[in-house]
Amino acid sequence: MDAHIIIFLLVLLVPLSSATSVVDFCVADFNFPVGPAGYSCRNPANLTVDDFVFSGLGVPGNTSNIFNSSAFLAIDVTFPALNGLGLSMARLDLDVGGTIPVHSHRVSEVIIVIEGTIIAGFIGSDNTAYYKTLNRGDIMIFPQTLLHFQVNIGDSPALAFVALNSASPGFQTTTFALAANDLPTDIIQKITLLDAGQVRKLKTIFGGTN
Ligand SMILES: *[C@@H]1O[C@H](CO)[C@@H](O)[C@H](O)[C@H]1NC(C)=O
Ligand SMILES: *[C@@H]1O[C@H](CO)[C@@H](O)[C@H](O)[C@H]1NC(C)=O
Ligand SMILES: *[C@@H]1O[C@H](CO)[C@@H](O)[C@H](O)[C@H]1NC(C)=O
Repeated sequence: MDAHIIIFLLVLLVPLSSATSVVDFCVADFNFPVGPAGYSCRNPANLTVDDFVFSGLGVPGNTSNIFNSSAFLAIDVTFPALNGLGLSMARLDLDVGGTIPVHSHRVSEVIIVIEGTIIAGFIGSDNTAYYKTLNRGDIMIFPQTLLHFQVNIGDSPALAFVALNSASPGFQTTTFALAANDLPTDIIQKITLLDAGQVRKLKTIFGGTN
């Protein structure tokens, strides 16, 4: 390739690959649709410090559900100031025996255990299972896109916080993904080897049809 063309291509590529933001922040404006780069920005003139503060992670979540756990998310749609800044947080409460069911997202997650004892783990893309008992003060990383979970194995409620390196991590929980929609039972059987009865049980729990 001609050297001039290579230099021209480099000039085109460099600004994209080392993009530096031209704004300090971009608090999400939900009046416009979200795109690959996030939401449009609200007019900075209309913002106050309160737009940069999110309260509520100090309160235990409601764990009265099938997994006896709750995840309270501070992500772009709940905390619009995160838009475009590449990070988010959540509070996890796991009742005794509670579980954050196996799920994945587009980005990595780091957990810190504040109270209780949990088993946390992830599955590598070669199907290796990495799991370990975590106690107060332990942190663990769940690499981007890999299936992972947390289970309270202690005799008291567990509390943990997580941080994720996107404002919009894109959570996908495996059992919900399979059973909370109208994907036909016979197809789910074929793609999972589950029995029809097991699929119907999951559809009943998660509100799926077909
Ligand atoms: C900002 O506030 C002004 C009034 O001070 C209002 O007219 C305008 O619509 C607001 N803009 C946005 C983007 O909220
Ligand atoms: C917790 O969630 C359950 C199930 O959705 C609901 O019935 C209950 O009222 C909630 N409790 C509180 C304190 O909000
Ligand atoms: C989970 O909570 C339900 C009530 O929502 C309760 O009946 C059940 O025993 C709990 N399971 C565990 C493992 O604690």
